[in-house]
Amino acid sequence: MTTETPEIHRGLAGVVVDTTAISTVIEETNSLTYRGYPVQDLAAHRSFEEVAHLLWYGELPDHDQLVDFAARERALRPLDRTTTDVLTRLPETCHPMDVLRTAVSFFGAEDPVEDDGSPAANRAKSLALLAKLPVVVAADHRRRHGLDPIAPDDSLGLAENFFHMCFGSVPDPEVVRCFEISLILYAEHSFNASTFTARVVTSTLSDLYSAVTAAIGALKGPLHGGANEAVMRMLNEIGDPRGVDAWLDEAFAAKRKIMGFGHRVYQHGDSRVPIMQAATERLIARAGDPDVTRLATLHAALRHAMISRKGIHPNLDYPAGLAYHLMGFDIPAFTPIFVMSRITGWTAHITEQLAHNALIRPLGVYNGPAQRSVPVG
Ligand code: ACO
Repeated sequence: MTTETPEIHRGLAGVVVDTTAISTVIEETNSLTYRGYPVQDLAAHRSFEEVAHLLWYGELPDHDQLVDFAARERALRPLDRTTTDVLTRLPETCHPMDVLRTAVSFFGAEDPVEDDGSPAANRAKSLALLAKLPVVVAADHRRRHGLDPIAPDDSLGLAENFFHMCFGSVPDPEVVRCFEISLILYAEHSFNASTFTARVVTSTLSDLYSAVTAAIGALKGPLHGGANEAVMRMLNEIGDPRGVDAWLDEAFAAKRKIMGFGHRVYQHGDSRVPIMQAATERLIARAGDPDVTRLATLHAALRHAMISRKGIHPNLDYPAGLAYHLMGFDIPAFTPIFVMSRITGWTAHITEQLAHNALIRPLGVYNGPAQRSVPVG
């Protein structure tokens, strides 16, 4: 009898596991759409709150819907005393992604609502997370700098309020807009690793907080969301734009992955990069500082070298990492900012998974020892 070895798809590369109506990459035009709308048009004309509404409800809000949505988000921002106490007890060395993961887990433990997993219950939880996660990220940013937290300001939109809570002031609208563009671009990207993680957890009929906690863990890794932090560390390591080629020679010889480059889905460049790169260049132009000029030159030189030497293009994390640095955030805040945005995509997928659920349980080909007897005595 012959047994055929099934084809193995390591990393699930190329495997289609389900349908989704949330977003897609259109290969012919190399563009990403959310619910049918090109992401570059959303980034040009809409707020992050409008995009969150679009991802969750399938449509952009009209004026009244947006006013209602924004009011509900603003009202849900404050953290209760117990959450604040729990978070301040975490070790100061704790990575902010661990703080965020703990916070979401704690929100789940605290949530008094009997979890019926209904779309309405999950939307209420999603909105609460959208509102509260920036408060956690900002408080942690200040804690790292020995500063007390700043309470959210409900007269400000989500992006402006985040700057207010981190720095005690809101920068020029152009800087806020660049930040908002990054949130819009990071919001959703189909069955990426963290979203798929959320769908796997949801497929067991576990709760939304468990799915989001797991997704944060998946996003933290440098092959996924952690790459935006790794980009900035790498630029700091290279330092001198003239050293790019020598640094790359060593990195290639050591078979290092160059952070912020390459993508499983895009072979000819991430469709989100031109929009984020343009926003980052606006920030560079505003700075007028020799150190920013050096960083910008280095950033461009590395991009050019990677494309010409390896044909590998930057992904969204490459311009976003530099942009967050230019906005004044410290490196450990970069991936948590990604979470503040991707919470919208994750929770849209959780709702979609539940609407037509099938337990996600792939197979593996066993290649361990043949069956043998347990030694007795
Ligand atoms: N640096 C150097 N070589 C690379 C890179 C890179 N960043 N990306 C791909 N390659 C090379 C690989 O070494 C491999 O070469 P080989 O065939 O000669 O061995 C080939 O390209 C294919 O690479 P894989 O890692 O197999 O491709 P995969 O689709 O699994 O990887 C990934 C995608 C993980 C994103 C990869 O490009 C990578 O590690 N990039 C760096 C981390 C990063 O920027 N992650 C962010 C992703 S986007 C996001 O989360 C928003």
